[in-house]
Amino acid sequence: MTGPTLPADLKSHQPFLHTPDTLPAPCMAGRDFLSNLDMTPAELRVVLDTAASMKRGEWRNVKPLSGLSLAMVFEKASLRTRTTFDVGMYQLGGHAITLTNAEIGLGTRERVSDVARNLERWVDGVMGRVYLQQTLTELADHASIPVINGLSDMLHPVQLLADYQSIEEDLGGSVGRRVVYIGDGNNLANSHIHMGMLTGSRVSVVTPLGYEPNGAVLQEALRQGADVTLTNDLSAIDGADVLYTDVWISMGQEDQAALRRKAFQGYQVTPEMLDRLAEGGIFLHCLPAHYGEETVPEATEHARSRVFEQAENRLHAQKALLYHVMGGMKPRW
Ligand code: CP
Ligand code: NVA
Repeated sequence: MTGPTLPADLKSHQPFLHTPDTLPAPCMAGRDFLSNLDMTPAELRVVLDTAASMKRGEWRNVKPLSGLSLAMVFEKASLRTRTTFDVGMYQLGGHAITLTNAEIGLGTRERVSDVARNLERWVDGVMGRVYLQQTLTELADHASIPVINGLSDMLHPVQLLADYQSIEEDLGGSVGRRVVYIGDGNNLANSHIHMGMLTGSRVSVVTPLGYEPNGAVLQEALRQGADVTLTNDLSAIDGADVLYTDVWISMGQEDQAALRRKAFQGYQVTPEMLDRLAEGGIFLHCLPAHYGEETVPEATEHARSRVFEQAENRLHAQKALLYHVMGGMKPRW
């Protein structure tokens, strides 16, 4: 019996590791990221390529955000967003500070504009998880440093970066792929439509009557010729490359819980539903999952589910975003 053949050039199997001299130029230097539409398709390409490179461990030896700080402002709860931005800043050599609304009282203890004008004097970037998209716009308008949307009632753009990294990993790309979002026409649904506009994926949003995504987001997508469809008909799931769902009761909607549980009956993602996807089709969920409502454990544990890989990609995708937004900054102290 012969042993395995060794590669002729062993060096070619050494992993690539970045040095400060090999880093790409930051492509969104100093810019706000309040929506996926704040980046061009070309910039999205660069960010997703950087995320894949970071996931391969190629940035292990560089600390491009050394000496930089990110303030993370939370009006709402978070596991993934808070942990991945914090760990991401640390791994890139920077530092993150968490400010909960109980501490800072955004818009109640202090005007949003004054919060912005204080933060810009101490830190180099702000990530905000808020109710109103307008709060982020106001922070961005009054701060000279970049502001990143870590979820608003309207949009969740950093989530979609990780989602498309996951789609590319499994399906090799997203152009022409059928991405079917089922459930509430909420922040995730709106950001999915934006990604259809940016990537050329074919996005179908399937909701019960009265729970459609934002009308202005949809109209703009259609005006720009994006392949976006809206339906109440569950047959849209058949042959999908990606089936995506999110909670029926988003943060801040707890008082509508009973009404919503009733309205969304029949829209639960089950293992049987996953059998209707295209060959190689995958199931994604931004998490947290409310089991027994929009999905069941048998679906998130199904062979087609990638939900935990998707959660891992929050770290890689956001590190890539942080690098491209903050990577060109010099510590000011
Ligand atoms: N998906 C997501 O944003 O998770 P968190 O709410 O836990 O941050
Ligand atoms: N739509 C959900 C997403 C949570 C990550 C919410 O806004 O609560």
